[in-house]
Amino acid sequence: MHVLLIDDDINLCKVIGYQLEKQGFRVTTAHRGKDGLRLFSQKDIDVVLTDIQMPDISGIDVLQNIRQENQQVVIILITAYGSVDNALEACRLGADDYITKPFGQEQLLFVIEKAVRLRKLQLENEELKDELAGKFRFEKMVVKSDAMQKVIQNARKVAQSDATVLILGESGTGKELLARSIHFNSPRRDKPFIVVNCPSIPNNLIESELFGHVRGAFTGAIKDRKGKFELADGGTLFLDEIGDLQESVQANLLRVLQEKEFERLGDSRIIQVDVQLLAATNKNLEQLTKEGKFREDLYYRLSVVPLTIPPLRNRKDDIPDLVRYFIQQFGHGRDIPVSAEVLQSFQEYHWPGNIRELENTIERALVLGSGSEISIDNVPPHISQKPGKTGDELLQLPFDDFSLENAERQLITLALQKSRGNQTRAAGLLKIPRHVLLYRMKKWKIQYQK
Ligand SMILES: Nc1ncnc2c1ncn2[C@@H]1O[C@H](COP(=O)(O)OP(=O)(O)OP(=O)(O)O)[C@@H](O)[C@H]1O
Ligand SMILES: [Mg+2]
Repeated sequence: MHVLLIDDDINLCKVIGYQLEKQGFRVTTAHRGKDGLRLFSQKDIDVVLTDIQMPDISGIDVLQNIRQENQQVVIILITAYGSVDNALEACRLGADDYITKPFGQEQLLFVIEKAVRLRKLQLENEELKDELAGKFRFEKMVVKSDAMQKVIQNARKVAQSDATVLILGESGTGKELLARSIHFNSPRRDKPFIVVNCPSIPNNLIESELFGHVRGAFTGAIKDRKGKFELADGGTLFLDEIGDLQESVQANLLRVLQEKEFERLGDSRIIQVDVQLLAATNKNLEQLTKEGKFREDLYYRLSVVPLTIPPLRNRKDDIPDLVRYFIQQFGHGRDIPVSAEVLQSFQEYHWPGNIRELENTIERALVLGSGSEISIDNVPPHISQKPGKTGDELLQLPFDDFSLENAERQLITLALQKSRGNQTRAAGLLKIPRHVLLYRMKKWKIQYQK
C-alpha cells in the first residue's frame, strides 16, 4: 500500500515514514500542501495522511481537492492537540478519520487499517446499491403489452413526484417489483426503501413498528425505537398488503398522510418526515370500503395515483418475453428453446398465480428438463392440459337427449382416445383407479379400437 504523507514538520515525516516503511508500506513525503497535491496526481496513492495546519494550503484544502475527484483513496488528517473540532468538520467533508499529535506507531497503524477497511466496505456498498438500482430499472421489467406499457409510463411519472401511490393487482402480478422500481427511478434512490408487510406484524405491534416508541411506552418497550416512517426519512416507504391494516392504524396513517407528522408511541414530541408512500394490495379496496372494512377517507388519500397491474391472463402478449426472461435468469444466461406446444399451452392457461406462477413453472421446467429444450412433459399437467377439452365444454347440458350414462360413456371414450387405448393412462386422466375404468367399460360395453 502506498501512503502519501504531507506534513511541514520534516522530523515528524522522517519518523512516521520510517515506522510505516518498517510495516511494509511504500511512503512518499511532501512538506507543502501543494507539493502533496502534485505528487498525488502523479502517483498511485492508496492512503493520504496529511497535517491540517501547513504554511501554504491547509490539510482541509488538500482533502477537498482530492476528494472531489477521488472516492477510493483513504484520507486521514493529522491534527494538533486541541483542534479536534477542525478534524470533525473534516470528516464531514470526506476525511475517513483523524489522529491527534502526538501519536504512537500502533495507534497510527490502527487508524490506517480501520480507515482502509471502512472505505472498502463503503465502496462495496455503493456498488451493491448501483447494482440494485440497475436491477430495478423499469427497463429491466418485461413490459410488452400495451396495458403494461401504460402502467410503466405512469409509474415513471409518479417516480418524479412525491405523490402517494396505490398499486393494485392480483397476487403475483409484480406489485412489489413495481414499487421498488419506482423508488430506484426516483430522486430518492440513494435514500432508504423500507418495506412494511402489514399482515406479518402482530396487531398490537404495528403502530410501534410504523411510528416508533419511547422507552416505557408499553410493557416490553425497553428502549427508544424509531419506526419505519422515521427510518424511511428522505426515501420511500412501501406498505404491502395494506388491505389488511387494522382500523386504529388506518386512522393514524390517515393523519400522517394529511398532516405529514406523527408522534412516537408514548411521546408527545411531533416528528416530521419526508417520505414518499407507496401502498399495495391484492384486495379490492373499493369493495372493502363499501363493506366498512377499510376507511373511505384513507382509501381516497391513498389512491391519489392508482396504478393497476392487469392479471397475466389479460396481457398474454407479455408471456413469450417473460418466458425468455426467466429462462435467462434461471438458466444463468443460457438460451434454452421452448417447444411451440408449451408456448401454446401457456397462452391458453389462465394463470391464477400470475407472473410468480409463470416464474415457478419455468424454474421447475428447467430443473426437470433435459437442458436442451423445455418440452410439454416438463410442464405440470394442469397447465399443459387444454381447459376447453376437459373442463367447461363438457359441463354444458344439452337441451335434449342428455343422460348421465351417455355423458359417462362419452367421457370414458374421450379418455381412451386421448390415451390411444392405454387403459392405465385413461384411468389416470379420469382420476379413477384402473379397475373402476375396466368395470365401467364393461358395464357400458365400451370397446376401444386402436
Ligand atoms: N414485469 C415483470 N418482469 C419481470 N419479472 C416480473 C415482472 N413482474 C413480476 N415479476 C416477478 O414476478 C415475481 C412476483 O412479483 P411480486 O412479488 O412483485 O408480485 P406481487 O404482486 O407483490 O405478489 P403478491 O401479491 O403475491 O405479494 C417476482 O419474482 C418478480 O420479480
Ligand atoms: Mg407482494
